[in-house]
Amino acid sequence: MNALAATNRNFKLASRLLGLDSKLEQCLLIPFREIKVECTIPKDDGSLATFIGFRVQHDNARGPMKGGIRYHPEVDPDEVNALAQLMTWKTAVANIPYGGAKGGIGCSPSDLSISELERLTRVFTQKIHDLIGIHTDVPAPDMGTNPQTMAWILDEYSKFHGYSPAVVTGKPIDLGGSLGRDAATGRGVLFAAEALLRDHGKSIAGQHFVVQGFGNVGSWAAQLITEQGGKIVAVSDITGAIKNKNGIDIASLLKHVKENRGVKGFHGADSIDPNSILVEDCDVLIPAALGGVINRDNAKDIKAKFIVEAANHPTDPEADEILAKKGVVILPDIYANSGGVTVSYFEWVQNIQGFMWDEERVNTELKAYMNRGFKDVKDMCKTHNCDLRMGAFTLGVNRVARATTLRGWEA
Ligand SMILES: NC(=O)c1ccc[n+]([C@@H]2O[C@H](COP(=O)([O-])OP(=O)(O)OC[C@H]3O[C@@H](n4cnc5c(N)ncnc54)[C@H](O)[C@@H]3O)[C@@H](O)[C@H]2O)c1
Repeated sequence: MNALAATNRNFKLASRLLGLDSKLEQCLLIPFREIKVECTIPKDDGSLATFIGFRVQHDNARGPMKGGIRYHPEVDPDEVNALAQLMTWKTAVANIPYGGAKGGIGCSPSDLSISELERLTRVFTQKIHDLIGIHTDVPAPDMGTNPQTMAWILDEYSKFHGYSPAVVTGKPIDLGGSLGRDAATGRGVLFAAEALLRDHGKSIAGQHFVVQGFGNVGSWAAQLITEQGGKIVAVSDITGAIKNKNGIDIASLLKHVKENRGVKGFHGADSIDPNSILVEDCDVLIPAALGGVINRDNAKDIKAKFIVEAANHPTDPEADEILAKKGVVILPDIYANSGGVTVSYFEWVQNIQGFMWDEERVNTELKAYMNRGFKDVKDMCKTHNCDLRMGAFTLGVNRVARATTLRGWEA
């Protein structure tokens, strides 16, 4: 099932549990605005190249729309749509005053020089600058983009609208970025896993974890889990997969990845088949790479008791059903990976206030948001007698539905 069909299905199930009428349902489901722009740039060799950029602004009932911009060869309008919708429910679950959006440019960033990426980012910003803004739509980095990309957007946007650091988040610290933003999604995953395990009478210490993906989210989550006494027994990335049942030394692995651009060849663990990573023996599985990786083909072989979804939509609805029958508890993406957007919100708040928080304050506030979010999700599970995914969806959809109705938009 593709990402949009899966997201729509989860929304419809939540809507049914909440008893929303069909008019309100349509109002919540249909995106506010879908933008598609042509971006032509001169390449370094003087030839011209054209790329297509997208921005889907899904909903703004609860505040400015918020979501990443992705540079990837397979940026697909359907997936951008699904991810924009997920952002609407995610910001509502986190209870931060935002709606949802997502964007991207169909390009292969590794095939473009830094100056070509800068020109592409500036042209894209010129095409959408009237449609984004501090109180309209606030982009952030996603796959293939980074703080430097946000710095270019900020600079280009500011040429039209004056200096506006709060127009993007995930910026470099020197341009108004927040301390703690880089680690925030991984730290949020740690807090989410702690809350889930605590709910089952357990703690991070002594549990065995498997992490798929060792980029920003996976590597921070692995590092912070190790600091709390958890054992990371297997890790994979695009270069390969490794396993050590006694626990991988994450500090040494980070050094190896920095020097070798991947986990492959790490001496402190055995190399394993990357296809087996999700079905390795462990207590907690953390998918932190791609969408749709847990599906009907591998769900029956998964041995983890808990899955903490650090990636966006890693679990297909068919796999959800198989795993539920096996008693596997899944902590859904729209709660588990909300640490990143929550600290993006702190960054936006700091920019608007013109006041920088220290890192301890950022991390303490993040923990409070993640713990409150878990409690709110569990309360919805009790109210609707449902699993954690439907608990999170009913929580998010209900908050957006209430704001929509109060504004009088659903008629
Ligand atoms: N960065 C954030 O703040 C944030 C917030 C919320 C959700 N997410 C989601 O988390 C996931 C990871 O994001 P990120 O920012 O860490 O990205 P990233 O680009 O920093 O890292 C991605 C990692 O996945 C690995 N990978 C790619 N293909 C793989 C494959 N086939 N098998 C195993 N590993 C593979 C890469 O090698 C890399 O280690 C994405 O789904 C993203 O949408 C990220």
